[in-house]
Amino acid sequence: MVEAGRLKIVILISGRGSNMTALAEACAAGDFPAEVAAVISNRPDAQGLTTAANRGITTAIVDHTQYDARAGFEAALSAAIESSGADLVCLAGFMRLLGAPFVDQWRDRLINIHPSLLPAFKGLDTHGQVLAAGARFSGSTVHFVRPATDEGPIIVQAALAVAPSDTAAGLAARVLEQEHRIYPLAVRWIAEGRVTVANETVTIAGASAGSGVTINPESAP
Ligand code: GRF
Repeated sequence: MVEAGRLKIVILISGRGSNMTALAEACAAGDFPAEVAAVISNRPDAQGLTTAANRGITTAIVDHTQYDARAGFEAALSAAIESSGADLVCLAGFMRLLGAPFVDQWRDRLINIHPSLLPAFKGLDTHGQVLAAGARFSGSTVHFVRPATDEGPIIVQAALAVAPSDTAAGLAARVLEQEHRIYPLAVRWIAEGRVTVANETVTIAGASAGSGVTINPESAP
């Protein structure tokens, strides 16, 4: 049951759904200003569908393999989102590229999480890309979605130092922990009406830049 006054979010997933779970857990807290109206997957076998159903969340499947063209799939996806009464659509490991008509329909009501400090390391195998580049920092970004993949106004980022011993899997795990912190934060700020987009940059009312500076690697004097 979605209560009046709380932002209704729909979460789109394709797999594990750990970010979906982080959002659902945040929404389950009494003072959180958003509710999960539905979880929708393009893959019938997505593990996150079971997790969501076990939490009592309404789930739906819009299987992209059932459509000849992207336009038909995206029209069905939009219809499913609309029927849930969503105010905000959260992509959380949703592994289909979304076309401009869909993205424009949901402009500034559609957000994504990506496991790098965008605009660096867009696309797949993000952590492998980070390690191959020898980047000293990585992290995670929540951003508004634009038609180009992993582009759009940045809402919040978490940064962490890359260790020489890091593997892609180890880095992914540490980044994921931060994803689970910042995705609910971004949704909270949007639900509180504090987030505005102007000239393709985001302002968050009442938020200030963190003061920390970290140098990596550190070396003894
Ligand atoms: C996350 O790393 C997210 O940033 C990326 O896909 C992964 C999804 O993981 N877009 P999960 O399904 O939320 O566990």
